[in-house]
Amino acid sequence: MGYYVTTPIYYVNAQPHMGHAYTTIAADVLARHMRQRGEDVFFLTGTDEHGEPVALAAERAGTTPKQLADENAARFEALMPQLEASNDFFIRTSDPRHGARVQEVMQRVHDNGHTYLGTYEGWYCPRCADFKSDSEIAAGNTCPIHHIPLDREQEENWFFRLSAFQEPLERLLAQGSPFVAPVARLNEARSFVEQGLRDVSLSRGKLSWGVPVPWDPDHVFYVWFDALLNYVTALGFAREGKDLTGTFWPADVHLIGKDILKFHAIYWPALLMAAGLELPRRLFVHGFLLMDGEKMSKSLGNVLDPFAVMEQFGTDALRYYCFREVSFGQDGSVSTAGFEARYANELANEYGNLASRTLAMIARYRGGVVPQAALDAELAADFDGLAGEVAALLDRVELSQALEAIWQRVRRLNRYVEERAPWVQAKDAAQADALDVTLATLAEGLRAITVLLHPYMPLSTHKLLDALGRPELSYDGAALAATGWGGAVGALEPLFPKPQ
Ligand code: ME8
Ligand code: MG
Repeated sequence: MGYYVTTPIYYVNAQPHMGHAYTTIAADVLARHMRQRGEDVFFLTGTDEHGEPVALAAERAGTTPKQLADENAARFEALMPQLEASNDFFIRTSDPRHGARVQEVMQRVHDNGHTYLGTYEGWYCPRCADFKSDSEIAAGNTCPIHHIPLDREQEENWFFRLSAFQEPLERLLAQGSPFVAPVARLNEARSFVEQGLRDVSLSRGKLSWGVPVPWDPDHVFYVWFDALLNYVTALGFAREGKDLTGTFWPADVHLIGKDILKFHAIYWPALLMAAGLELPRRLFVHGFLLMDGEKMSKSLGNVLDPFAVMEQFGTDALRYYCFREVSFGQDGSVSTAGFEARYANELANEYGNLASRTLAMIARYRGGVVPQAALDAELAADFDGLAGEVAALLDRVELSQALEAIWQRVRRLNRYVEERAPWVQAKDAAQADALDVTLATLAEGLRAITVLLHPYMPLSTHKLLDALGRPELSYDGAALAATGWGGAVGALEPLFPKPQ
């Protein structure tokens, strides 16, 4: 059994921005962490290319949907290595292999009797590609997300019998269910179901940019069904000549933002039940980063541009900041000022400095070899259980809490340096053994923390572990050993230098 984590597939009607980077980095942290634990991991991301949002954007840009999709999908695909995202595949829904599998699954839904031809009448947001229910309509028949007038739509569509899944969904989303986290989002999904589910459009007759409905080729599938199915279809063709579905389905975690909760918590499990497929184990729904000037003055130049940050400060710093500034799951503001403060205080001072001091003292006082002394018992006790705690938090997708638990130990090691004052111990021959303990403890503490930090900051942790002469990333090494390891350490450039 493998570990399968996904991001939403991003619409190609816009350029990649901080919000897309955010979910992708979060998924990458989980993927890297699970690989450290020896899991067989599959991490999927990609682009959502069909439907009205893309067709409309193409029209506005005076181009074809396919051309717009090709151009913008390339930008999203290029974002992945920039973020150090270790995705195992990048799915594009305009890929005919995806379309063929969508048709297969939907044909099964149709054959199982979950569809019918009917007339849709109601309010529709072309930017959300969402048929709004009464509770989702803002004042003056506007979209509460895009603040644009909703369209009154009347069209003959194929429908999906969502209402037939009322009871199974009530059970799936019952209080205490692990299916949706955090709990506030579970409650939100449940209250949507409790208002009574109405059937939803499964196809659009007015649109041609999509996957044709096999039993009625004048229609294309409603983009959300096509899009959701990416999580299943990708496993069928990501590896040439090899179907990974048996290894990785059901998904362990779908990471999503709160904007697309209804589709993932309600439509998606119902569709899977209708197709006779297993349900994913869990959705984790994160909050929104406020970054477009809402509550932040653009004139202050305080809007966080992930590309500028990565260029000036490096990818690791952006990755770290994402989970420090805003508790993962909540909404919160990000800003350049907030970023720069954490870069200087936490990354450069607390962690970067700890690393350079530790290496420099081992070089100066012990000829660059980590003493094999037994570790300081009091300090070691403060690390007891840390690796297990971090693993348990990440199993629950608590990315900020896990990082905070690790960071407390970064701070603990800094206090340890001050308490032990190795520069004083070094001047006194009678304290040679004590100095060995200090240096062994610092080196081993730093190494263990760096193994734990690796999924958050893959580049700098790699450099530091190399300098320590202990490059292994396996989670077995995330707990403290009993003694220093007795090996030689090398030199290290500052991990988080002052920007030019
Ligand atoms: O909704 N803060 O695509 P999309 C945090 N194609 N995360 C944000 C964000 C913000 N301000 N803005 C965007 C779609 N995101 C569909 C999904 S899935 C089968 C189909 C992230 O390009 C967050 O993950 O609008 C959100 O759910 C996603 O981008 C929406 O991306
Ligand atoms: Mg959106």
